[in-house]
Amino acid sequence: MAKSSIANVKNVNEENGADIAIKARQINVVYSTPTGDIPAVRNVDLDLPKGSITGIIGESGSGKSTLIMAIMNAVTKPGKILSGSVILNGRVDMLKLSTEQQRNIRGNEIGFVFQAAQNSLNPLRRVGQQILDLGRSHDVKDLRGLIKYAKELLTRLGLDADRVLASYQHELSGGMRQRVGIMFALVLKADIVFLDESTTALDMLSQASVLEIIRELQKEKHLTIALVSHDIGVVADLSERIEIFYAGEIVEEGETRKILADPQHPYTRGLIRAIPRISGNIDAAEPLKGSPPDFKTYQQPGCLFYDRCPIRTDSCLKERPKLVNIEDSHKVACFRVGVHDRD
Ligand SMILES: Nc1ncnc2c1ncn2[C@@H]1O[C@H](COP(=O)(O)OP(=O)(O)O)[C@@H](O)[C@H]1O
Ligand SMILES: [Mg+2]
Repeated sequence: MAKSSIANVKNVNEENGADIAIKARQINVVYSTPTGDIPAVRNVDLDLPKGSITGIIGESGSGKSTLIMAIMNAVTKPGKILSGSVILNGRVDMLKLSTEQQRNIRGNEIGFVFQAAQNSLNPLRRVGQQILDLGRSHDVKDLRGLIKYAKELLTRLGLDADRVLASYQHELSGGMRQRVGIMFALVLKADIVFLDESTTALDMLSQASVLEIIRELQKEKHLTIALVSHDIGVVADLSERIEIFYAGEIVEEGETRKILADPQHPYTRGLIRAIPRISGNIDAAEPLKGSPPDFKTYQQPGCLFYDRCPIRTDSCLKERPKLVNIEDSHKVACFRVGVHDRD
């Protein structure tokens, strides 16, 4: 009896997605512009399993930041979430909460560094004051403890903590601001953390060391992290799973190891070939051909990657390929799975 009830509890938890920190379903976001609506995120399903790092990758303009904002219910005009649900810890739908409830969750349960974080510090207040502001706005009682933890994080991130706390934004370099942004994402001890291009202003060596620290913190504190980058090389080492974004849709997802070893979407292969340290051959690195999706791309029927695809056929224009499972939660949205790229 005990056994079966445990099994039942587990099933119920799985159904509720309690082992999934973020379960986003059918997210659709548009930006209304004078030239028409841009469907920046379309029918996206995304799971962030608890205690794991998920990489979200795609060229600039593919909709990564918009998806992250949508998950936090923080899309602003001219953007609008048209539909979807975002279940947090099997418990609440982020898209149905009051503004006050959302504000509480952002910070306490979900920490984040938005892409614009480099410039999002208040220019008129010192970093230390801004940590106190954040603490007060989230009802932190032990403000001394908060500052102590901020210092610990800054030190781990390779900064002179006392100096940073006493600094204004303009006194910090771009790379320092990014580290400060990461500290802000972590300081309230949220279990879920979104890092959107948060190491891009750093040189390669600093980037590697900051990523290593993020990995350490993730393991220590069992964090759930979404690591967003236009550079597959940045996220591949750290992420258990990756999501490849193109023109507002996920075109491939699965275990990082498997996708790197055997990428199935021609776009994923292009991204990998463009990064020498991933493809393993510096001479063979080649930039992705064609231009990233623009307004016209979204109007196109069929596969949105068609214009740039080395293995396209006419029938790829007939309908939009769906994301389908090819094995063990490795999913691909391509009619030509298994076909080798031509030059
Ligand atoms: N404020 C905005 N107004 C109009 N279009 C926007 C706005 N923000 C983003 N977009 C458009 O939405 C698409 C996705 O953008 P974004 O989510 O920033 O992509 P990424 O983070 O992958 O670079 C792009 O086509 C971009 O031009
Ligand atoms: Mg972005």
